[in-house]
Amino acid sequence: MPSEMTAYVVEEYGDPDVFTERRVDVPDPAPDEVRVEVAASSVNPVDYKIRQGAIPDFTPPLPATLGCDVAGVVDAVGDDVERFEEGDEVYGMPGGAGRQGALADYAVGHAGTFAHAPDSIPLEDAAALPVVALTAYEMLADKTTVDIGEDVLVYGASGGVGHIGVQLADWFGADVTATGSTEAKRDLAAELGADATVDYTTTDVADYVADHTDGAGFDTVFDPIGDDHLQTAFEAVRPFGSVVTTESSSTQDLAAMHANSLELGVVLVILPVLLGERQERIGAELADIAALVDDGAVEPVIDERFAFADVADAHRRAESGDFVGKLLLVNE
Ligand SMILES: NC(=O)c1ccc[n+]([C@@H]2O[C@H](COP(=O)([O-])OP(=O)(O)OC[C@H]3O[C@@H](n4cnc5c(N)ncnc54)[C@H](OP(=O)(O)O)[C@@H]3O)[C@@H](O)[C@H]2O)c1
Repeated sequence: MPSEMTAYVVEEYGDPDVFTERRVDVPDPAPDEVRVEVAASSVNPVDYKIRQGAIPDFTPPLPATLGCDVAGVVDAVGDDVERFEEGDEVYGMPGGAGRQGALADYAVGHAGTFAHAPDSIPLEDAAALPVVALTAYEMLADKTTVDIGEDVLVYGASGGVGHIGVQLADWFGADVTATGSTEAKRDLAAELGADATVDYTTTDVADYVADHTDGAGFDTVFDPIGDDHLQTAFEAVRPFGSVVTTESSSTQDLAAMHANSLELGVVLVILPVLLGERQERIGAELADIAALVDDGAVEPVIDERFAFADVADAHRRAESGDFVGKLLLVNE
C-alpha cells in the first residue's frame, strides 16, 4: 500500500486553472469510515462554486480536494463498519464539501455515505449519479410525492439534477413536461421520458400552463434553478400544488405561496456531510437509487469524460452550460 497518492487540489479560490496536482498522504479510515480506491467522480455546480469562492462555508480545508461524487472499490474498512468489505464496488457522496473529496487516488468517508454500486452500469458511470440523483430523489420522494397521472413540470430537464428528475417523475407515473433552451436539450428530455417539452426562452409561463394543463397549473413544479426563478415556478403551479427546489438562498416574495396555499420543499443534499449527522440517510437513498438503475427506471447520461488531470477543462465546460446530463471525471 503506497503512503502517498496523487490529488487534484485548490490552494486558493479562482478560475479553473487554480487546480494543481499534488502528492499527499493516503488517508486512513476512522472506525466508522471506509477508504475507496477512486475510479471516477463527476462535476457538480457545487464544485465550481466552491472553487470560485462563492460558498466558503462549503469549502474543505485548504488545500482542498474537491469532488462530491465518487465511485470506486473499497480498499480499507474501519473497525466499526459492517456493511462493506474490501473489494466491494461502491458509489457515494462522502465529502468534497466541508471535508476532503474524491479528486484523488483514494477517498475516505463515513460508511453511511456509500452504497453498493448499481450492477447494470459500468462502475465509473455510477460516479455521475450521487449528488444529482440524491437531489432529484429527495425533491420528488421526500419533499413532495408524485401520484400517477399528475402533471409535473421539470425545469432544467437536460441538466444534472433535471435529467434524473424527468426519469423519476416518469417512473412515478406522472405526465411530465420538461423545459430546455435548445432543441438538443429538449430532445434529450423527451428521450428520457418527458411527455412534452417547452422552449422556455420563447414561451410564456401562461402559455405552457395553458397548453399542458388546460390552464389549471402543474401539480408539482421541479425547479433546480431556484432563487429568482421561484417566482416563475409559483406562476406555473396550481393552487394547493407543490414547488420543490434546490436554491432558496435569496430574499423572495412569498405572496404567491399564500395566495395559492402552496407547499415549498427545499433540498440541501450535502447537509448530512457538512453536519456529520444523519449520514446513513445518504447510503440508504443511494441503495434505493441503485435499485431504480438496475430496474431500468433511471440512467445517467454522460456527455463527456475527462481525466482527473483535465479537471480544469471539465469545470470550464460545466460553467459554460453547453452540455447535457453529466460531465464525468475518470481517474486514469
Ligand atoms: N441544494 C442542493 O442540494 C443541490 C443539489 C444539486 C444541485 N444544486 C444546484 O441546483 C442547480 C442545478 O444543478 P445541476 O447539477 O442540474 O446543474 P446543471 O447540470 O448545470 O444544469 C442546470 C440546468 O438549468 C437550466 N437552466 C438554467 N437557467 C434556467 C432558467 N432560467 N430556466 C430554466 N432552466 C434553466 C439549464 O438548461 P437550459 O439551457 O435549458 O437553461 C441546465 O440544464 C445548481 O445551482 C446547483 O448548485 C443544489
